[in-house]
Amino acid sequence: MAVERIKPITEYREALKRCLTAWDLTLLGVGAIIGAGVFVLTGVAAATKAGPAVSVSYVVAGLACLFSALAYAELAASIGGCGSAYSYSYVGFGQFIAWVIGWDLLLEYTMSVSTVTIGWSGYVNNALESIGITLPERFTKNPFDGGLVDLPAVIIIGFLAILLCIGSKQSSRFNSLMVLIKLSVIAIFIFIAVQNIQTTNWQNFFPFGWEGVMNGAALVFFAYIGFDAVSTAAEETIDPQRSLPIGIITSVVFCTLIYIVVGVLLTGIVPYQILNVPSPIASALLKIGHPVAAGIIALGAVAGLTTVMLVMYYGLTRVCLAITRDGLLPSFFASINAKTRTPVLIISLSGLVIAAIAGFVPIHLAAELVNIGTLAAFALVCGGVIVLRITQPDLERPFRLPFNPLIPLAGLLFCLYLMVHLAWMTWARFIIWFFIGLAVYFLYSRKHSLLSNY
Ligand code: ALA
Repeated sequence: MAVERIKPITEYREALKRCLTAWDLTLLGVGAIIGAGVFVLTGVAAATKAGPAVSVSYVVAGLACLFSALAYAELAASIGGCGSAYSYSYVGFGQFIAWVIGWDLLLEYTMSVSTVTIGWSGYVNNALESIGITLPERFTKNPFDGGLVDLPAVIIIGFLAILLCIGSKQSSRFNSLMVLIKLSVIAIFIFIAVQNIQTTNWQNFFPFGWEGVMNGAALVFFAYIGFDAVSTAAEETIDPQRSLPIGIITSVVFCTLIYIVVGVLLTGIVPYQILNVPSPIASALLKIGHPVAAGIIALGAVAGLTTVMLVMYYGLTRVCLAITRDGLLPSFFASINAKTRTPVLIISLSGLVIAAIAGFVPIHLAAELVNIGTLAAFALVCGGVIVLRITQPDLERPFRLPFNPLIPLAGLLFCLYLMVHLAWMTWARFIIWFFIGLAVYFLYSRKHSLLSNY
């Protein structure tokens, strides 16, 4: 069976601990998905792109992500491995493409965590200021914005690194608590909003037409990023072949429903034109006379951003583990702590990199590379399903996505469509990263690979 081909030629003494259930995975998915996207971008997308039809943008982006999620579910259940798209590409396309996508995943996850961490720090600083605590500017801003270092960003990464080192179950428990907080806050918003709908706000439902809906979809796509991180938990999951598809698909469907409801309600309680602000949900609640609820939203946003950071950081370490274990990056890093059964060295080193980016780089630079990296991975996973169904029809598939090749093809095309709409500067940076990856591959990885280079 093809899966055998990705097993390393060396046996590892240590293994990750299988401790996560389908429920944990679903919460990890919701943890990674709901964050800055819904708390920030919904407002921008409504005000500048789609108007009240932002909920339709969420449907469109949600469908595209669901197609990719189904593809992830099929490959995660049949191939597994903590490397996610990297591991699937190894089986589907061989070592070189696997390296390219692994290198891409390192970019996607590092930049996602860094971007959300910078946003998190901004939120926390605002919250502290609102209760009269003002931190010195040189310790809350990066050098590009006139400060020295964004210290809260560095500190939260240190905290998450410790949590991830302690253990996956502990990290998952912390994640569950934070998910509970953010969902409760969203529930409070929904409860208040349904009582304050002004249907006149929906009268001009498509002010920017279909074009606007699609532009909105490209923007709110960010709000769905993260479900793929669930697939990196394959080696720590009890009954992964059943649990992974459940975790991935349930979290995407659940979050899509939440996003649609929030989009409909937010544009129903205030005119969409006033939503182009950093915290649109809190602003809308303030506008309709609910200052306490508006304050509580900040709590939900901070909890939401924390879970996104935690799960994406977790995903990064597992992809790193898969790549180092195979020898494409120094295998020395792949050691797993005997007591906590976590990759402590990788967690610490990647934490240093994230802290350096989050502490010293402005948010837009980090954010630009998130979407392109993610879309490339999604496209490859969708393509991988189609190719593997042809090249390896006998591969055991505990979960088979329906309507093949229609669904993965639709997912693939949608991802490519969104990719070509990204700014050329983003493409330029992405291509530079790709070439650095090629250099690393040909100068190091190929020679040190522990797997055969088929
Ligand atoms: N989906 C994540 C968020 O919205 C990245 O913050």
